[in-house]
Amino acid sequence: MLAAGAPSPTGLRVFPEGFLFGAATAAYQIEGAVAEGGRTPSIWDTFSITPGRVVGGHSGAVATDHYHRYRDDVATMARLGLNSYRFSISWSRVQPDGAGPANPAGLDFYRRLVDELLENGILPWVTLYHWDLPQPLEDAGGWPARDTAARFAEYAALVHRVLGDRVRNWTTLNEPWCSSLLGYANGHHAPGRTEPDAAVAAVHHLLLGHGLATQAIRAQEPGAEVGCTVNLYAVSPASDSPADAEAARRIDGLSNRLFLDPLLLGRYPDDVVADLATVSDFSHVRDGDLETISTPLSMLGINYYSRHVVAAPEPVDGVVDWRGGGAVEPWPGSEGVRFVKRDGVPVTAMDWEIDAPGLTETLVRVNREYPELPLYITENGAAFDDQIDGDGAVNDQPRVAYFDGHLRACLDAIDEGVPLRGYFAWSLLDNYEWAWGYTRRFGIVHVDYETQVRTPKASALWYSDVIARHAVADPQGAEPAR
Ligand code: FCB
Repeated sequence: MLAAGAPSPTGLRVFPEGFLFGAATAAYQIEGAVAEGGRTPSIWDTFSITPGRVVGGHSGAVATDHYHRYRDDVATMARLGLNSYRFSISWSRVQPDGAGPANPAGLDFYRRLVDELLENGILPWVTLYHWDLPQPLEDAGGWPARDTAARFAEYAALVHRVLGDRVRNWTTLNEPWCSSLLGYANGHHAPGRTEPDAAVAAVHHLLLGHGLATQAIRAQEPGAEVGCTVNLYAVSPASDSPADAEAARRIDGLSNRLFLDPLLLGRYPDDVVADLATVSDFSHVRDGDLETISTPLSMLGINYYSRHVVAAPEPVDGVVDWRGGGAVEPWPGSEGVRFVKRDGVPVTAMDWEIDAPGLTETLVRVNREYPELPLYITENGAAFDDQIDGDGAVNDQPRVAYFDGHLRACLDAIDEGVPLRGYFAWSLLDNYEWAWGYTRRFGIVHVDYETQVRTPKASALWYSDVIARHAVADPQGAEPAR
């Protein structure tokens, strides 16, 4: 028998048996219907209508109208052959005040969605928090306030109580780096605050909320599969100078280890705590918190998009100011670090460098430096300026190449012994790309925002083929018979 991932005589590189192929979305990016069925505003509703926050003043009020079109969207997933669908629950829809009683109409929407998925043989993969904090909780202090962590655990238990009989895979948080540092340090995301010390407290309370939610779900179902999704980057220094190595250590610390170490090792990394000393004294950490945060996970979700290549700030009078003279950046304590673009490296429409080997590097590193556990790529994908042909088709070959390269990178990691169990493309649909509004398209399915007509792009058809073969074609081997 061929080893999974090894080139085969048929010209295929095969994924291991049981490897899950899916696509991902998030509630605020697709649902719309923001004032229907008892839903109340989240921080993204507030932020998006605040002038100057989002390109074009776009909001998720309508988005892709998935709330009304979920049946058609599930039918599309079924036609593409997706094994699993990763989506998030809107907290404001199911618990409008962020505390207190559940909203039956909100829960019912997700029950119907889950049933539709199950009827179509698609595994539901639920994310409980994809950035849309109920506004009343932000008004009470948001994630910098400790109480938000307890509220999150209550909400998690409430959703699990209703969907736990049909959902197996639970993800507490999506990308706590973004919810904390983009939300509270540079304010690029909701709630738009620029308070680095509060951002560091938000990191902790998000992680604490994750731990408490994991325990609350396991209290209701001891065998529940619960994980967390973090966004990780490959990080490299722009040169071999010691100062650039220091820049890379700092950015790796803030983007990767500040989350992985508490979650998987039960401690904050000493060097990162030292880097943050001018920002936070960590007095928000209480005895027992790190034990809660490091409650064993069933799996770790990794979102991977790109690599950071970084350089130290230019010294002024021989002194390197890591704080960048008070610059507002999502890198507390290291605001002065410069992010460098490499010559000749292709970028996506987000201006993110395309670096598939960085995905292999990231997976191998997590598996080597942390206790071994099942890993999933819960997001990976690319925005491009898609063109619609005369016949309405979208021939998005750059996106096909992106997915192809990154799926091969997954196979390379598997060949190196990484227990990678699945891959979710970001995203099923073109959607509301946060501060970029509708100006960046990540979908494998094109959405016409005027008519809400969905058209699978070439990348969707290509991905569907990969799923059907459970393999990508091996360029070294013969082209497989179709
Ligand atoms: C990730 C987010 C997701 C989407 C992609 C492009 O950081 O989790 O919602 O915006 O980036």
